[in-house]
Amino acid sequence: MNSPKHILLIEDDLDLAELATAYFRQKDITVLHCTEPLEALQKIKSGKVHPDAVITDLNLPQMSGLDFIRQMRNEGLMVPIILVTVSNDVDTAVAAIEAGAYDFVVKPIHFPQLLISAQRAFKYNYLNRENKTLRDAIDQSKGLSPDGIIGKSEGIRRIIELAKRVAKSSATVSITGESGTGKEVFARAIHNWSPRKDKPFVAINCSAIPENLLESELFGHAKGSFTGAHDKKIGLFEEADGGTLFLDEIGDLNLSLQAKLLRVLQEKEIKRVGENQPRSIDVRVITATHKDLRAEVAAKRFREDLFFRLNVIPMHIPPLRDRREDILPLAEFFLKKFNDLNGTDIIGFKKSAKEFLLTQPWRGNVRELENAVERAVVLTSGNEIDISAFLLFDDALPVEVHEEQDERKNAFVFRYGEQVAPLMELEKKYIQFVYEKCDRVKDLTAKTLGIDRKTLYRKLQDDTLLEQTI
Ligand SMILES: Nc1ncnc2c1ncn2[C@@H]1O[C@H](COP(=O)(O)OP(=O)(O)OP(=O)(O)O)[C@@H](O)[C@H]1O
Ligand SMILES: [Mg+2]
Repeated sequence: MNSPKHILLIEDDLDLAELATAYFRQKDITVLHCTEPLEALQKIKSGKVHPDAVITDLNLPQMSGLDFIRQMRNEGLMVPIILVTVSNDVDTAVAAIEAGAYDFVVKPIHFPQLLISAQRAFKYNYLNRENKTLRDAIDQSKGLSPDGIIGKSEGIRRIIELAKRVAKSSATVSITGESGTGKEVFARAIHNWSPRKDKPFVAINCSAIPENLLESELFGHAKGSFTGAHDKKIGLFEEADGGTLFLDEIGDLNLSLQAKLLRVLQEKEIKRVGENQPRSIDVRVITATHKDLRAEVAAKRFREDLFFRLNVIPMHIPPLRDRREDILPLAEFFLKKFNDLNGTDIIGFKKSAKEFLLTQPWRGNVRELENAVERAVVLTSGNEIDISAFLLFDDALPVEVHEEQDERKNAFVFRYGEQVAPLMELEKKYIQFVYEKCDRVKDLTAKTLGIDRKTLYRKLQDDTLLEQTI
């Protein structure tokens, strides 16, 4: 925050520019002067200069100060801009702020006042940048930043390509895929890759909100519009203005809200509940569902016209079992994440663990893999994850260590809780499990376990239970 500050000044009055430069120099602020807005825009866009604030005159030769501000914002350049106007009229002030100006000052310039405005702009710029850095760091740690999308399979690479391409437009994207495949990850990535990235990304799960509240949640309501509406409320569409609204589980939206959503998408206007006057909004909508929307349309539970309106760009994320090349990179990624979170230093997966990961059905997709790696990290005391760290549990809530007899005969079901089974015990049970699976054929058991017969016999020797079964 205390580093030397730089201002980019756009002013065609050379005397005034000279005066301002001299004034700011006394305050240890350097001024880079441009006479033309396009030149300034070019310099900032190309990354040649990184001003902490821009001061621009309103009346300039190539384009007005207002248009300059608009163009900067359109390009996603967020440096604070102070507009210098000739008259104190409210309309220009409002237009300046609406266009995205940080502040405005009136000619004749009172330099101490301009200095105060500039210093506030520096602070704003600093906080803005810091905020962005923190947000990126959080996204990265959650694996949500565009570069945090892991996957090298053909399937996922194609989707990344498509997501990058569609990010540039504002077209509605409809993401489908089984639970845990990464639908929300891609919705965020599209937002982060889009020119809207500095505006809000707002997510709502349509199935998680009671139907009677969903409408006001989405569109807002006026004060007193229904019992309990004590105050006016801004809806999520308005909150996401300029950015992206992610409607998760869109297949669960009821028919009456489907009709309202369709109107909003067509007219780009919303009406708060209890209000008549429409408000225009600029929101990119991304939807997701694990349902088959075509089947919902056929069953008359989903409006066909809305389906087509949402399905402008369909994006299907394949299940993890159909892109097995992604399993190990994802597992490594989650290992790093949970090492960081738990302060552990596990270097990788043993061969047996990798083989295990590669052969699981992963019905819960990436989320299930992530949970499995998290638990394995917690359970591993050495510096590599062994297969046993995955075999200690199933997806049930942790209770206590015991083997369960369930309807799946020979199912390998362990639960863990306060107590954790010694590895020896696990190994024993696992050998027994594989032995049963291999129809009690020792050769095959040894082969499946990746150990030789002699080792299998040795491991079985002092185990009476297994001796009985073998
Ligand atoms: N390609 C990927 N790279 C890194 N992490 C991923 C990837 N895909 C999914 N994940 C992680 O897996 C978890 C599940 O992803 P996400 O929540 O996006 O799935 P979803 O399809 O929206 O699931 P649901 O249908 O249950 O809502 C998240 O923690 C996410 O960070
Ligand atoms: Mg989701």
